[in-house]
Amino acid sequence: MPHAFAISTKDLDGLARDPRRVLSGTVGGVRYEARVVIADYGERIARHYGTPLPNAPVEFPFRHFGLRCELEAPVELRLYDASRVLCATTRDMIARFGPVSFTNAYLDPSARADGQRNIFPSLDFHYDRAPDQDNQYSLFFRDPFDAVQRAPRDSTTLVLANVAAYLQERKEGGDLSKFRSLHHLFEGEDIATLIDEILLEQRWSAPAGSGEIIVFDNRTVLHASYYNGKAGYPIGVRYLI
Ligand SMILES: [Fe+2]
Repeated sequence: MPHAFAISTKDLDGLARDPRRVLSGTVGGVRYEARVVIADYGERIARHYGTPLPNAPVEFPFRHFGLRCELEAPVELRLYDASRVLCATTRDMIARFGPVSFTNAYLDPSARADGQRNIFPSLDFHYDRAPDQDNQYSLFFRDPFDAVQRAPRDSTTLVLANVAAYLQERKEGGDLSKFRSLHHLFEGEDIATLIDEILLEQRWSAPAGSGEIIVFDNRTVLHASYYNGKAGYPIGVRYLI
């Protein structure tokens, strides 16, 4: 039976005030802990690029970046409805913190069965949905019941805020007139030193048989595959309203 995942507005407010605290609760009778991944994200970006964040042309709606929810045992989550509308709590979490991930969580069988699987070339940062499409949320998942996806994945997923992609492209001397379409970034940089600093990494590395999910809003972030030596398998993808 699927379970809704809910964190109260009060708790999310508390986490925004004190991003180093750990929220805990239960879903489907299973304990979870939720943590901010990168505290004071805007300040880190500004420090990394040695410049105040620009007010235009890129908005920066976050204070902290990434919310990682780790469940102690597998739980089937209902994150969206039959019309593919993402649940309100998750949308609120994404609006505040950008990418939201769940470890030890999986979707119901019909949701796991339909849809597509994708893998992009390494370090090609892009959005999945054009601005005029109504389903702007991407949900990626690793299906613990799938013969391929039950294993940890070799490649990871990197997510960064639009403003960081903009500053990185500017630093690399790229074409900013086509900002957000596709950016091959960070080639030749030491990615490991940028993770949890300006890049959020979804590692897909939980033990065999673990379900993992990440969901984010294509309007506020770009994402890329990161091979780090090996491509691994395509990940499950849903686009949500
Ligand atoms: Fe994508």
